[in-house]
Amino acid sequence: MFIAGCLIIVLLAWLWQRWHFGHWRRLGVANIEGTPFVGNVWRLLRGYCCFGDQFRELYECKAAEGQAYVGIHVLHNHALLLREPALIKRILVEDFGQFSSRFETTDAIGDTMGAQNLFFSKYELWRETHKIFAPFFAAGKVRNMFGLLQQIGQQLEQHMACKLASCGKNVNSMELEVKQLSALFSTDIIASLAFGLEAKCLQQPDAEFRRMCIEVNEPRPKRLLHLFTMFFFPRCSRQLRTHLYSDEYEKFMRDSMNWALEQRAASGEQRHDLIDIFLQLQRTQPPESVVHRRDFFVAQAAFLLLAGFDTSSSTITFALYELAKQPDIQQRLRQELKSALEGSEDGQLGYDTLSVLPYLRQVVDEVLRLYPPTSFLDRCCNAKAGYDLSSWSNDTDLCLEPGTPVYISVLGLHRDEQYWPEPHKFDPERFSPEQRLQHRPMTYLPFGAGPRGCVGTLLGLMEIKVGLVYILKNYRVETCDRTLPEMKFDPKTFVLTAAGGTYLSFVKDQL
Ligand code: HEM
Repeated sequence: MFIAGCLIIVLLAWLWQRWHFGHWRRLGVANIEGTPFVGNVWRLLRGYCCFGDQFRELYECKAAEGQAYVGIHVLHNHALLLREPALIKRILVEDFGQFSSRFETTDAIGDTMGAQNLFFSKYELWRETHKIFAPFFAAGKVRNMFGLLQQIGQQLEQHMACKLASCGKNVNSMELEVKQLSALFSTDIIASLAFGLEAKCLQQPDAEFRRMCIEVNEPRPKRLLHLFTMFFFPRCSRQLRTHLYSDEYEKFMRDSMNWALEQRAASGEQRHDLIDIFLQLQRTQPPESVVHRRDFFVAQAAFLLLAGFDTSSSTITFALYELAKQPDIQQRLRQELKSALEGSEDGQLGYDTLSVLPYLRQVVDEVLRLYPPTSFLDRCCNAKAGYDLSSWSNDTDLCLEPGTPVYISVLGLHRDEQYWPEPHKFDPERFSPEQRLQHRPMTYLPFGAGPRGCVGTLLGLMEIKVGLVYILKNYRVETCDRTLPEMKFDPKTFVLTAAGGTYLSFVKDQL
């Protein structure tokens, strides 16, 4: 009786799953067959691939070929994977009002640090927060921050010089893991801009800020459960009391922020960083403004640290990896830097020069194509009446239900040979002024698009350029025995990161 009972339960569960995963087929939507209980993300869940590769594989799936969108299942969630650039534009830009938030959600009441930041906040809160912070990242403001970036660039130079000196006298090359190196640099920059303090990671690689940035990505069971709920079962976030960060990270960030605010209020110094803005907002905003909510400032700063350090350091790492593999491209880039340095008065490259160096821009843009750090985007349909896709194509009368997630595989689009011939080849010529004119809109999305696109684009680009310049002006990069012959992504990380680290040889060769 017991065995029969169990078999019946298993059979019913199986039939229910078959029915559940037939959702898109019943609606007449092209779809990718899902595995019962796990849908189309089984490889991701087993830790065989990262988010980026999982969505790229779905994008490239036979069933998706030639489709503007395809039905998928992210665990039990019915979701659409968008493929057609014009449709992507509709959802991200033109019909933003109906897709104004991301699908992932944390506990809006208990997780004051996770729920209030720009990335996770839902539309109403996001609108107010965005209005306050977007101007901070505008071109004029990034120009004001440039002095801080340069200071940390010089510290990167010193850090590398000390490393080389520690290898022994007359040694002119050293092997380094590049992601570690660039993460020290980018953490110092964002900590300085968002918290107004010197994190000193380049001087002491085990500094508290760096330790926290490593801690926040640690795959601990409780954290994984929370992230899993936020991304796959967002409706349960409240019941599970999810938190984006660990208690330790929250406490450290709160203490750092309180300290920075007190110090700055007392000193009255102007540093062109977020602390200046926070203090000004505290003084000027009416009592009902969001800025007076508990944890509002620290929520923004802690997220900017997370969003800014990993993305930029990954890009610097992938750039150096490709330059080491392609000495001709590296030579051309270093030649451009050399000419610019010779033309400068103090041996430093200013904001205006760095903004316009054409080949540096081509190289960075191509790195972001081949290795977009945030390799997928998502939005959630928030229109109460659903979203009518029949206005997209006469062939369909599909209406997306409210709450349906839509995904965009940035890695898939960036490696689609329809838009990028020989997509796996690193070729900065794709971004020459002539070739740029040929690019199809919305096929290049390293910073997302629309009102919820990356707010830190200009800062991120400048950070990457400063990092590359301060390394390449002193060193040539070469592959070494430990360099991966083919890039493979770490399945455990959210931002694209090389599996097993990126080791390169840095040969002293001053420009
Ligand atoms: C190479 C550097 C970077 C890359 C590739 C990158 C990429 C992205 C992407 C793809 C998104 C999602 C956009 C969308 O959904 O349409 C995003 C959002 C965001 N990024 Fe960045 N990012 C970078 C650097 C930064 C920096 C330096 C900061 C700030 C310090 C930052 C802050 C943010 C924030 C706050 C959001 C959420 C925006 C919103 O929802 O309004 N990012 N970023």
